[in-house]
Amino acid sequence: MSPTTRSLMSRPVSRRAVLGGAAAAAAASTLNAPFVLAQPARLKVGLMLPYSGTFAALGNNITDAMTLAINEKGGKLGGREVQYVRVDDESEPSKGAQNTNKLVVGEKVDILVGTVHSGVAMAMVQVVREEGTTLLIPNAGAGAATGALCAANIFRTSFSNWQPSFPMAKVMYDLGHRNVVTMTWKYAAGDEAIGGFKDGFTALGGKIVKDIAVPFPDVEFQAHLTEIASLKPDAVFVFFAGGGAVKFVKDYDAAGLRKTIPLYGSGFLTDGVLKAQGPAAEGLLTTLHYVEDLPNPVNRKFSADFKKATTRDVDVYAVQGYDTGQLLVQALDAVKGDVRAKSALHAAMRNAKIISPRGEWTFSKAQNPVQDIYLRKVVNGENKYQSVAHKGLADPATGCKLA
Ligand code: BEZ
Repeated sequence: MSPTTRSLMSRPVSRRAVLGGAAAAAAASTLNAPFVLAQPARLKVGLMLPYSGTFAALGNNITDAMTLAINEKGGKLGGREVQYVRVDDESEPSKGAQNTNKLVVGEKVDILVGTVHSGVAMAMVQVVREEGTTLLIPNAGAGAATGALCAANIFRTSFSNWQPSFPMAKVMYDLGHRNVVTMTWKYAAGDEAIGGFKDGFTALGGKIVKDIAVPFPDVEFQAHLTEIASLKPDAVFVFFAGGGAVKFVKDYDAAGLRKTIPLYGSGFLTDGVLKAQGPAAEGLLTTLHYVEDLPNPVNRKFSADFKKATTRDVDVYAVQGYDTGQLLVQALDAVKGDVRAKSALHAAMRNAKIISPRGEWTFSKAQNPVQDIYLRKVVNGENKYQSVAHKGLADPATGCKLA
């Protein structure tokens, strides 16, 4: 951990205790008001991400790639030194508000970055809508964050859950599949990812034979695989990610289904987990806003630099972290590090053009990426580009008043 990075322990802290400490700090700074007009030298970035549990690898790749992007530009934001304060959110929605308050109210971070899990992200959204802190979401696809609960201070650098799944409907329909079983974890991301697929598939005339959902983060799939075998659909579409995706793909193969009932998913099924899945993942088709072999120079350089810095391979989570870092660099340069100039800061973010390893993208009015979705295939243990499944796809942003 660098000298300017601190981790807050995940011990329980009540909102009242946090607010009490914050009130005392506010009173002290009011007393000193004539002497605190200058910007504090260091800009505080709060990182609320999973550093343990089924999504730990995702949180680590986001963190390391974000700091890589900032360090490539000298390690400062808008000319100011950066202090990172980390909280492990454990992908635990019930602790989401409390963990967010530790950073927003307790630490008074200037910018908040987080998180991976949609349920935790919704708790963060609620807090920053009240407190006005600028929030950058580097993964969690919860539709409401850039839909009904969108706000000028909330930006997502990743995707909405609907986005990567919707284009797979046409791919599967064109391959001749008409009767499909879906399967996921039962939580916002799973429901919305399956919803995106179903929107497209039923509009084309396809039929959903059965929706199966297991509690998050359970990995007891056997009984459901037996049911799928007996239902005999043309194909199966799933949303799983991280450790759960490894287990699901291996179990599907071990149950003898891979060769008889083709398996498809949004690309989280095979991103960052292929080494652990081994031959069980061979041949899987998925759709996502990134694939490792995109032939653009930014992707080539990023892949090499990330490997050098971490000894790990890039994946979609690293790309999203890198783009979060790029956005911070651009926007804070535009306001010369003055995070108090919120409308100028948010305007700089809204108008940013991100030259990403995934290809160039811009923000929609709801502040979610408008981006290409790629069809990928696992070949010899790697995700390989097949085609653009949907060019410049924007989330419908239902209910967003910014749009
Ligand atoms: C989510 O909870 O939004 C999510 C988690 C992992 C991968 C993709 C989405």
